[in-house]
Amino acid sequence: MAEANPVQTAPLRPRQAVLRMAPYSPPTAGRAGKLRLDFNENTIGAPPHVVEALRRRLEADLLAVYPEYGEVRAALAAYFQVSPDQLLLTNGTDEAIQVIINTYVDDGDEVLLLRPSYAMYRFYADVAGASVREIDYRPEDLAFPLEELLEAIGPATRAILIANPNNPTGTAASREQLEMILDRAAQAAVLVDEAYFEFYGVTLLPLVGRAPNLFVSRTFSKVFGMAALRLGCVFSHADNIRFLHKAQSPYSVNMLAAMAAAEAVKDDRYVKEYAAEVLAARDLVYQGLDRLGISYYRSQANFVLMRAGERALEIRDKLRAAGVLVRDRSYELPGCVRVTVGTREQVQRFLKALEEIW
Ligand SMILES: Cc1ncc(COP(=O)(O)O)c(C=O)c1O
Repeated sequence: MAEANPVQTAPLRPRQAVLRMAPYSPPTAGRAGKLRLDFNENTIGAPPHVVEALRRRLEADLLAVYPEYGEVRAALAAYFQVSPDQLLLTNGTDEAIQVIINTYVDDGDEVLLLRPSYAMYRFYADVAGASVREIDYRPEDLAFPLEELLEAIGPATRAILIANPNNPTGTAASREQLEMILDRAAQAAVLVDEAYFEFYGVTLLPLVGRAPNLFVSRTFSKVFGMAALRLGCVFSHADNIRFLHKAQSPYSVNMLAAMAAAEAVKDDRYVKEYAAEVLAARDLVYQGLDRLGISYYRSQANFVLMRAGERALEIRDKLRAAGVLVRDRSYELPGCVRVTVGTREQVQRFLKALEEIW
């Protein structure tokens, strides 16, 4: 009789890069039924015409075949005013970050990041075994550290990943500042992640195709209210997009996400109205925090970072008990809590709950 395979007793040893990584586990459970001001999502849901179109078009056949992207690529290219070959659909911005790193960064290569910023930049750079250098946002006002970043760029820099506006600070770089970085880092892939563009209004999209090292990303997870579907896109010179394609799994964007995005850009009035509502609501957040004597950083996005001081974790927990979710950021910015801005009515509920526990 053949001998049974030996029983494995120890887990397989992963790559060094993975061993070195700190585990990242965002608190994603138990959010149903609460006022979700913790993930910067759209707080009122996807546009109704998108939901309606998905219902109308959902048939057995649609799910049985591998996705085709021609229709959505054309629709998104028209909406974002680029040519279809300057655009790559991705499984959320997260996959855009991953594909850019996989295309341009070898083990040990230098990647420049800002700190604090969106956690997935560091995550994918670490998985790739990159040598990560982080430049701090200015401690006094969390402003974009232009001079420090320009100084850090060297011939070995292979990628620079910038959220603009930045999460969690809410602060932003100007178009001129980003152009200086593109000029200085001619040999590096520069990603400008515009996940919160609709609340800021400054974009580098018109430079796509002209600046050969520029990559711009957008997402349908935030103002478009489709975070569950996982759809993002990255824009760059067509020659770069061809290389990104080579490094991407061919069907990573599912058909429902592709259909929903094509539908969403047909009519963006709902999204624009929501963005306007958020901007009005953000002023209410400022006024409410002023009233309570809580300081905060002014934001260019749909969230506000407030300084709760020693009580940051307690405030988060008490708000949760009152049915309002906010995000503690004190592990990277002492005393800071981030609150997503939704509608004015939702902001009033948040402020009322905060007032009761403050
Ligand atoms: C700067 C930034 N980029 C991207 C994302 C997420 O993008 P996606 O859902 O498209 O992967 C977030 C979400 O918090 C973010 O803050």
